[in-house]
Amino acid sequence: MELERELTYLRAKVETELERCFTGDKPYRRLSQAMRYSLLAGGKRIRPILTLKFCEAAGGSMEKAMPLALACEMIHTYSLIHDDLPEMDNDDLRRGKPTNHRVFGAGRAVVAGDALQAAAFETALSAPFPPERTVAAAAYLASCAGLNGMCGGQELDTAEESDRSEAGLTLINDLKTGAMLRAACVLGVIAAGGDGGARSAAEAYGLHLARAFQIRDDILDIISTEAELGKPIGSDEANSKPTYASLLGVEAAEAVVRRETQRAKSAVRGAFPDTAFFEELADRLAERRS
Ligand code: IPE
Ligand code: IPE
Ligand code: MG
Ligand code: MG
Ligand code: MG
Repeated sequence: MELERELTYLRAKVETELERCFTGDKPYRRLSQAMRYSLLAGGKRIRPILTLKFCEAAGGSMEKAMPLALACEMIHTYSLIHDDLPEMDNDDLRRGKPTNHRVFGAGRAVVAGDALQAAAFETALSAPFPPERTVAAAAYLASCAGLNGMCGGQELDTAEESDRSEAGLTLINDLKTGAMLRAACVLGVIAAGGDGGARSAAEAYGLHLARAFQIRDDILDIISTEAELGKPIGSDEANSKPTYASLLGVEAAEAVVRRETQRAKSAVRGAFPDTAFFEELADRLAERRS
């Protein structure tokens, strides 16, 4: 219950900050409306919460880490807007609402994603740290968001010729989902000026948490309901996309989720004074229903 209370508290802090974004009334207000529509549509806010908590665990101030936390959520939201486009997963529901392109049109949805990505870097670079630290954070974020991170993963995920053996799927997951979850964790440590040990622990936690997280997402695509998930079920099958869950079966995939969750938990154990939050969060995400 302690975990729930903490998540609710941090989510509210993040929501308050996001609510302040892109409010100006400009001639191009339809674009800022599209950005706010997806950014404020709910969502678990796992990435910004991880940034804040890793910053705290590494001895830093959560308040100062907020711009980095918001930057992660902006990039994540842009990736979801683009992920739902007809040319990608072609989905009509996201975070319990019609997808961005269904409401604002595909052209505007593309640009809303682009503008969210630019805003993410503008926000990250406004973080109140010595310039070297801010630059290190922005550079890490860029490397995780781009070609060798989330975008590379989305390419592999959508290309028909991609290797979809277990090893191939692991690479896809590590890039499309792992890169940004890892960024969220590591940015917290960078914000705190943490040492190499703390950074490696955050990196390993993000990697293993993300493996469990994406496989759980693939399982929910099979066993959940649209009402519970807030996004369509059966999307992977409709797009003929094999996943861990369809390749191994739900039960075997659940075992991999448990294994990766244990690995995430052991990655942080001993690396920070108190790891209860990270360990309980990993367990909760492994069993999540949405
Ligand atoms: C969805 O991410 C995309 C995946 C990486 C599976 P989340 O499950 O974190 O989505 P929101 O932010 O809560 O909507
Ligand atoms: C999402 O993978 C990865 C990114 C958005 C980068 P999915 O395509 O499985 O995510 P959902 O199920 O649409 O949220
Ligand atoms: Mg996808
Ligand atoms: Mg999708
Ligand atoms: Mg999915």
